Amino acid sequence: MSAALRSVKGTRDLLPPETAVWQAVEETARRVFGLYGYGEIRTPILESRDLFARGVGETTDIVAKEMYQFRDRKGRELCLRPESTAAVARAFAEHGLANQGLPARLFYFGPHFRYERPQKGRYRQFHQIGAELIGEGGPLGDAELVAMLVRFLEALGFADLEVLVNSVGDGPSREAFREALVAHLEPRSDALSPDSRRRLEENPLRILDSKEPRDRQALADAPSMLDHLSEASARRFAEVRDALERLGVGHAVTPRLVRGLDYYTDTVFEIVSAGLGAQDAIVGGGRYDRLLAELGGPDLPAIGFAIGQDRLIDVLPESFRRGLGGAPPALVVAIEPVPALAALELAEELRRAGVAALAETGSRSLGKALRWADRRGLRAAVLLGEAELAAGRAALKDLSSGEQAALPRADLAARLGELQ
Ligand code: HAM
Repeated sequence: MSAALRSVKGTRDLLPPETAVWQAVEETARRVFGLYGYGEIRTPILESRDLFARGVGETTDIVAKEMYQFRDRKGRELCLRPESTAAVARAFAEHGLANQGLPARLFYFGPHFRYERPQKGRYRQFHQIGAELIGEGGPLGDAELVAMLVRFLEALGFADLEVLVNSVGDGPSREAFREALVAHLEPRSDALSPDSRRRLEENPLRILDSKEPRDRQALADAPSMLDHLSEASARRFAEVRDALERLGVGHAVTPRLVRGLDYYTDTVFEIVSAGLGAQDAIVGGGRYDRLLAELGGPDLPAIGFAIGQDRLIDVLPESFRRGLGGAPPALVVAIEPVPALAALELAEELRRAGVAALAETGSRSLGKALRWADRRGLRAAVLLGEAELAAGRAALKDLSSGEQAALPRADLAARLGELQ
């Protein structure tokens, strides 16, 4: 016997009825983002490796360690997208979207790939719901985008969410902070993890992102980014926070928040959920005013976020799931000697009237069919006996109350519609 095939490590199949939850979350995103004027963009899963090496940063974990990369048959260096901000920036430049009026407001859903150690809420194929606001550089753009994110999460039933915000400043701010951080860490470099020792040379700000206890200890009394902001960045950050307050978006300033991607400038933010074991973020985002120009596109400021959809659904409030309900179909059963084909015909008639219906097409007894329908959570059964069929009627059985009544065939759809 040949070995059974299994899904690839870190990937999973999403199955019904759970997929209905995924769809409802996506529909909510479409609705809320639509209120803010966002349109959907769909970029390829396959991109050139170079896009992320240049966009996200060659020395970031995402690019250095986690990218699924390979050469295609013609030797092109490709990868499965690990994120979409660089891809959206590429598409924006490639299609000259700046000519269609600014700012551009784009959102996306879809699978992304990172070679990470799989664990609860962490997959190698995971899904993001993201949005990017391109061509708006002022602090009110930041506040509006974060407000949209929070409104979306509220629409899913999350309450009391706190957005963690920080500013990583403009170029001069980061240069000043980088120097101060290196001056603090160099004398302590022996205490750092090997990764962070390497980062001290290559990309010291990355060390702030480390979860290693020895790095955390070396960072305990490290200088704060916020003390090194240029006047312009500090003013900007204060304006973002004021605007968030005016829009009623609760937030906490978190000076250690740096994010794992190199493209950020000024505002960065995350939302963490206590419901996730490792305190991993469900959402991450920030401003990236240099990225478009660095990728050879127009020199436009931008800001965006991406939500980890897998994690989001793991911690989704019960109220949202309860509200879904769906429309469990009715089961139409023909009673001997009425042929099963008559049940199939009636089910088709109901579907044409917009009512979800299943037909019992097998050879199960009536009792077995009803027990099955009950277990599956179906609301009703339609029983088609010989006498009813002849009279143009059918018996409608409410599976929760057990009540049964004979109805004209023409009234069935309306009655079932009320039950669903
Ligand atoms: P990120 O923080 O790398 O940001 O990812 C955003 C979210 O994706 C994370 O907060 C997390 O919820 C989810 N995520 C990341 N890796 C995994 C994984 N292995 N398994 C499950 N979920 C995961 C970005 O990707 C940026 N592009 C966000 C952004 C948009 N910044 C500006 N615009």
